[in-house]
Amino acid sequence: MLFLLCPIFMHFIVPITAQPEINFQLCVAENGNYTENSTYQANLKFLLNSVYSNTEIDYGFYNFSYGESSDKVYAIGLCRGDVKPDACRDCLNYSSRVLTARCPTEKEAIIGFDSCILRYASRSIFGLNEVAPYFFVYSLTNVSDEKGFNRSLNSLLDSLQDKAAAGDSRRKYATGKISAPNFQTIYALSQCTPDLSQTECSNCLRNASARVGQCCQERQGGRVIYPSCNFRYEINQFYETPIGEDPSSPPSKGKNNTVIIVIILSVVISVMVILIISFYTFSGKRKSREKVK
Ligand SMILES: *[C@@H]1O[C@H](CO)[C@@H](O)[C@H](O)[C@H]1NC(C)=O
Ligand SMILES: *[C@@H]1O[C@H](CO)[C@@H](O)[C@H](O)[C@H]1NC(C)=O
Ligand SMILES: *[C@@H]1O[C@H](CO)[C@@H](O)[C@H](O)[C@H]1NC(C)=O
Ligand SMILES: *[C@@H]1O[C@H](CO)[C@@H](O)[C@H](O)[C@H]1NC(C)=O
Ligand SMILES: *[C@@H]1O[C@H](CO)[C@@H](O)[C@H](O)[C@H]1NC(C)=O
Ligand SMILES: *[C@@H]1O[C@H](CO)[C@@H](O)[C@H](O)[C@H]1NC(C)=O
Ligand SMILES: *[C@@H]1O[C@H](CO)[C@@H](O)[C@H](O)[C@H]1NC(C)=O
Repeated sequence: MLFLLCPIFMHFIVPITAQPEINFQLCVAENGNYTENSTYQANLKFLLNSVYSNTEIDYGFYNFSYGESSDKVYAIGLCRGDVKPDACRDCLNYSSRVLTARCPTEKEAIIGFDSCILRYASRSIFGLNEVAPYFFVYSLTNVSDEKGFNRSLNSLLDSLQDKAAAGDSRRKYATGKISAPNFQTIYALSQCTPDLSQTECSNCLRNASARVGQCCQERQGGRVIYPSCNFRYEINQFYETPIGEDPSSPPSKGKNNTVIIVIILSVVISVMVILIISFYTFSGKRKSREKVK
């Protein structure tokens, strides 16, 4: 692709709550615009509707396209591996509405919540291992034994890479935990879009975890999110464990920390990217909780 990696850093401080809210969002202006009432807009609307109204898919991955030639639209919806089908559809429904409202003319866009990621484009995005743009989300709280924590974290992420990559064409997802210094436990999850091959998935996750030092050095929680794969770690269990696997610790819902979100975009040479990022006001957040839940 014609992309140069030219990082633009943007820092936002967003209070994290137990309810779904936007982790990141990007309108990709350099890949084309559509106009109001155009065929592309109609196709996009139809396509997104067919994603979140689909009740046959129960494994959280949607790779749909709709339309002809230059008006063809491609979409990928990916729910976190532990999210139930109903909650997955709700998240994608909500994502669709938020993303089309926030990117009203861009043909390509991406949005992420804790439970799902939605992207669409006018180019085929299926089966591609895409590691740009990428997004960081991390805790503002630091750990005390950085070296020891890092060692545990790296070893956990390494093992999850292979586990996730070994998944099938419906789900490439793995979770796990490891002891860390000071009686802490690190919980992590790694996931790829399952249209990647095993090798692509482990390459993508390896590439993502090599960035952990860029975002999350010393941090007690962090995420690196690519369009094709992502991982997250916390010191509390933030994912649901399938019944029978680990009954000891239920997922903890409350989060007290603030996170900083860093968004790094790829930019076409000489074309400035128009980036629309805005976060909810407090009242908007409350509203979104009700809708997505
Ligand atoms: C899309 O529109 C934006 C302004 O809204 C403009 O900056 C950008 O260059 C356009 N993209 C293309 C590919 O024409
Ligand atoms: C798009 O269609 C709506 C409903 O038919 C109409 O109200 C609106 O003016 C149209 N917009 C443009 C830019 O044509
Ligand atoms: C999508 O969300 C809207 C608003 O909450 C709701 O009215 C609609 O029924 C939902 N669609 C599906 C297919 O769940
Ligand atoms: C946490 O660690 C980061 C990265 O090393 C550092 O920039 C930051 O100041 C630290 N924060 C606190 C509260 O110690
Ligand atoms: C969509 O994903 C499924 C599951 O990974 C895969 O079998 C199928 O080939 C994909 N479809 C397209 C059009 O890439
Ligand atoms: C990750 O992938 C990008 C794009 O292919 C590449 O430029 C970068 O060097 C890779 N990083 C690592 C650590 O493999
Ligand atoms: C922690 O691990 C990352 C990823 O392997 C590495 O880049 C970083 O240098 C390590 N930091 C420390 C303090 O060991």
